[in-house]
Amino acid sequence: MAGDKSLEELSAEAERLREQIRHHNYRYYVLDSPELSDAEYDALMRRLEALERAHPEVATPDSPTQRVGAAPAEKFGVVQHRRPMLSLSNALDAEEMIEFDQRVKRLLRSDADIEYVAEIKLDGLAVELVYEHGVFKVGSTRGDGYNGEDVSQNLRTIRSIPLKLHSPPSHRVPDLLEVRGEVILPRKAFQKLNEERAAAGEPVFANPRNAAAGSLRQLDPKITAKRPLDIFCHSPGEIVGGPGFETQWDFLQGIKALGLKINPRSRLCRGVAQVLEYWDEITAIREQLDYEADGIFAKVNSFALQEQLGEVSRSPRWAIAYKFKAQQAETRVNKIAVYVGRIGSLTPVANLEPVALAGVTISNASLHNMDEIKRKDVREGDTVLLERAGDVIPYVVRVTRQAHPRHRPFRMPDKCPVCGSEVVHEEGEVAYFCVNVNCPARMRESIRHFASKNCVDIDGLGDKLVAQLVAKGIVRELGDIYKLEAAQLAELERMGEKSARNLIDNINRSRKTTLDRLINGLGIRHVGEHTARQLALHFKSIDALREAGEEQLLAVRDIGPEVARSIREYFAEPRNTQALKRLLDNARFEFQPMPEAAGRGPLRDKTVVLTGSLKRWTRAEAEQKVLAAGGRISSSVSRKTDYVVAGEEAGSKLRKAQELGVRVIDEDELARMLSGA
Ligand code: IVH
Repeated sequence: MAGDKSLEELSAEAERLREQIRHHNYRYYVLDSPELSDAEYDALMRRLEALERAHPEVATPDSPTQRVGAAPAEKFGVVQHRRPMLSLSNALDAEEMIEFDQRVKRLLRSDADIEYVAEIKLDGLAVELVYEHGVFKVGSTRGDGYNGEDVSQNLRTIRSIPLKLHSPPSHRVPDLLEVRGEVILPRKAFQKLNEERAAAGEPVFANPRNAAAGSLRQLDPKITAKRPLDIFCHSPGEIVGGPGFETQWDFLQGIKALGLKINPRSRLCRGVAQVLEYWDEITAIREQLDYEADGIFAKVNSFALQEQLGEVSRSPRWAIAYKFKAQQAETRVNKIAVYVGRIGSLTPVANLEPVALAGVTISNASLHNMDEIKRKDVREGDTVLLERAGDVIPYVVRVTRQAHPRHRPFRMPDKCPVCGSEVVHEEGEVAYFCVNVNCPARMRESIRHFASKNCVDIDGLGDKLVAQLVAKGIVRELGDIYKLEAAQLAELERMGEKSARNLIDNINRSRKTTLDRLINGLGIRHVGEHTARQLALHFKSIDALREAGEEQLLAVRDIGPEVARSIREYFAEPRNTQALKRLLDNARFEFQPMPEAAGRGPLRDKTVVLTGSLKRWTRAEAEQKVLAAGGRISSSVSRKTDYVVAGEEAGSKLRKAQELGVRVIDEDELARMLSGA
């Protein structure tokens, strides 16, 4: 009986159970080769649960019982990646792969065959897992490559992610281990999920990747836990202490020994010819893989050579992706419909006879604009060839069979299909516009954009709700959002009192935003996230931006004549400035300081270690300056450190830097770098 045992004995027993369960988890979820029946496994799990329930003091946060512990979150936190998560250029064909290989050899001044690791390029969601002393601490999405979302609680629910790493005799567990990987939803699970959703009248996911992303970005980890997500780990982030991997292949074997899941189909190749063979092989079996893949990766195996090759404009020169050839399907165009967007532009869309393409059912494809329709001469009733390449939205390649008798060529309507107002089209331009600035379609799209994540971020203001608010005339312009009341919302379809109150809370929260988000949210033509940021940094207030003349606008970084003109036009229209005034009056924004953009400035992406005593600055000042210049501060020197700034009496860190061949600079040199010289 448990009652007779000391706390120590109980703890030991709990730990034994945890170890057993971890082992069987690993056998089942990582190696896919279980040693126990489900019932036996469940029995172990129940014993541990019972023990931890009766004696909460013996429970640990890394216990297998703690996968779905957390309560739903309000919002995800932000995680800054210690090293940016890069993306990559693609090779289109074998020839480009050979060119890539030749470039690598040229840069390395080598004639010998290069060793590559060939891996499958998974079409999933990139994440980073952070282990500290072998314990899973934080997991995040890629985000913009510098900052991702903290989805730790959701990642914990993925059984193939160990909460605690193994400590095999062959590998010391690193003090800090960051691994990147791809979260996927296996095809079968995807189909099942969609069937369930369809049966429940819920919208289905377009493809496994969206389903994986949607599942991982659930605020309630209990929902994520119900989705059988899986992961394949494929690349290193920052690693401190531990085995010191020398090659990508070593790294993969090493993390496998630590209990992480890697793709068993990865292969060490000698020379580019073997990589091309790998591509052929994987192409032939891609439909049999139980996950979606869109190509292969070739990575230079040696980390030293990788470092020597370096990167240009965020893209490493030591790796390349070689996508599979696009997948195609033929189907009939039932109708060409017209969709009205945020700035009133009309987009023709082909409504198709539903067809399966690369595991997804396609029933619509954008035809983009009149020019494209004319060029391809697509008409209703025709049969067209669709193509889907990678994660790109399927598009119409060409007409393969004309309808008999043939329909008349498609014409843009003279009247807006949503509000009936006139449609205008300027000579020489491809776009058609609905003239009505208050067109409900435009309003719906503007509100959706304004409320979206990159703008003022109002969670809960979804498509259906926006459509109702606009249709009922409750929201006629952006400013009306800030006059909404809970009671009024609660009366709408699919809204309860609770969700109405939540939405009001979210709206109120959005008053605390940054200037760039507001500028982006206004939906000025040609002004997206990046331009909005430049404008906010330059003008510092909406008033200053509104008053800015063409010349002042052109003085802003990255802004050219077309964008400047579009901004002028926006503020020259009294309807826009009046609506903006009402928006500002109603919302009473409390502008927050804009976060420092990670990875911008003269030290962008550089990892800097400060050591010894500095004369120019205090340590804190120097750190601040490095961060402000886009750099990162690390407290320990590793192969991945870019600069060690050595002050007086620098000791072990300086020695380590010299050993590893890391560049050592003094304060004066740092000052020069900070000034961008
Ligand atoms: S390594 C620069 N390995 O593909 C090195 N990435 O364009 C890139 N991806 O979003 C990371 N499978 O998340 C690597 N076996 C694999 C991968 C992989 C899929 C994703 C990755 C990134 C994108 C790179």
